[in-house]
Amino acid sequence: MRAALITQLGEPPSTADRDKPVVQPDHVVVDVLAAPITPLDLLCASGTSYFGAPATPYIPGVQGIGTVGGRAVWFPTSAGMAAGNGSMAEKALVRQEDLVFLPDDVPPVAMAALGLSAVAAHMALTWRGELKPDECVIVLGCGAVGQAAIQLARAAGAGRVVAAARSAKGRERAVRAGADAVLALDADDLAEQFRGESADLLLDPLFGPPAAAAAQALRPGGRWVNLGGSAGETCPITSSTLRSRSLKLSGYTNNELSTQQRAEAISTIAHLAAQGQLSVDHEVVPLADVTEAWNRQGHGRIVLVP
Ligand SMILES: NC(=O)c1ccc[n+]([C@@H]2O[C@H](COP(=O)([O-])OP(=O)(O)OC[C@H]3O[C@@H](n4cnc5c(N)ncnc54)[C@H](OP(=O)(O)O)[C@@H]3O)[C@@H](O)[C@H]2O)c1
Repeated sequence: MRAALITQLGEPPSTADRDKPVVQPDHVVVDVLAAPITPLDLLCASGTSYFGAPATPYIPGVQGIGTVGGRAVWFPTSAGMAAGNGSMAEKALVRQEDLVFLPDDVPPVAMAALGLSAVAAHMALTWRGELKPDECVIVLGCGAVGQAAIQLARAAGAGRVVAAARSAKGRERAVRAGADAVLALDADDLAEQFRGESADLLLDPLFGPPAAAAAQALRPGGRWVNLGGSAGETCPITSSTLRSRSLKLSGYTNNELSTQQRAEAISTIAHLAAQGQLSVDHEVVPLADVTEAWNRQGHGRIVLVP
């Protein structure tokens, strides 16, 4: 079968012929329809993730959409985080218990673009972030997580959703996703951008200076959920900002979810996607072009199709 293959850490994959996976106990072979390229795939393949450096060669792709016995499924893999191959191939070996069967009317490529990015947005808002109806949410960044978070906050009953993005394209995506206000993160005075806002929850995939500025717009007792560090591995937050408003800062990772929590989140996302209420911008690229696509990841979700 054709597959993307990482042969050297820190380098993009290229396509190669690999043996089809052999069925093992409690596993199934999925016919892959679509596999997104995400920041986690690149981080794992860099060899610098907190999971440690993976053994090479391996097929990347921590998630995908495929079919089993003619039925559409979403599936995760451990590629790059533990031993085993991933979704960027014609077929993938997946633990039976990890499969999530999807409604028939879910568009497979659009669902692949949402995947774990939307799971993170949904669970960070509703579970870790304890979003309540009518609350105000600030969403930082408007990549896949940000676009999903704007729509999911609205679906969860948020009263006001404020988005912030550094690029004009990101700000356009935020408007299309339904944000009530869209702020610029490429401004000289970041704190000034958030002045006048008073939010209950900060959904933060960026960290760094944008998160430090946005935290100043949280109300007393406000919650700040960090789920990524796209703008920086450190954040210039002052003690007085945290103390003066008794802010609650927490971290979130999809890896802490139980199999059941993850499956329920995927099902929620799939139903919203099938109803046309949830989508993120994406581009479809043939698996054969994985090297070029991998190199430009980060400017809009790319979904590979074998
Ligand atoms: N904790 C978890 O379980 C979990 C799950 C999924 C994702 N994540 C993390 O969440 C983050 C976002 O993921 P994603 O899937 O949304 O990625 P993505 O689709 O590639 O989007 C990343 C966005 O970050 C923005 N960005 C990058 N550097 C920035 C900077 N210096 N200042 C402001 N904005 C910046 C980009 O904005 P522009 O488009 O405006 O350039 C881009 O839209 C990543 O760090 C990812 O690892 C965590």
